[in-house]
Amino acid sequence: LNKKEIEVTFVKHDGTRIKTKGKVGESFLDVVVNNDLSLEGYGACEGTLTCSTCHLVFKKEDFEQLPDRPEGEESDMLELARGVTDTSRLGCQVFLTENMDGIVVEVPESSNDARLQ
Ligand code: FES
Repeated sequence: LNKKEIEVTFVKHDGTRIKTKGKVGESFLDVVVNNDLSLEGYGACEGTLTCSTCHLVFKKEDFEQLPDRPEGEESDMLELARGVTDTSRLGCQVFLTENMDGIVVEVPESSNDARLQ
């Protein structure tokens, strides 16, 4: 059975919007990788929670709808991300749900690869 696809838009720091699709249950990192999106350096550690390059900023109302909050290793790693906000998450830790259809997320400028510090 095919999982439902939803529409996801990534907004780069230069304002470029990348509209794409992802399947329910995939992470935002999966969406970037599976669609081969040109987000340089994004998801450098491939979801192993050691880089923070998958930093995304959610709109407040979307952030509040997320099923969980960053905790443990994710929040430790987020602290190392540049330009972290109250509605920041790591894209490899947030999974698509049906009610996210049409969601717009920001990809902050110059993500930091924590492994290089
Ligand atoms: Fe490295 Fe998410 S891809 S922490």
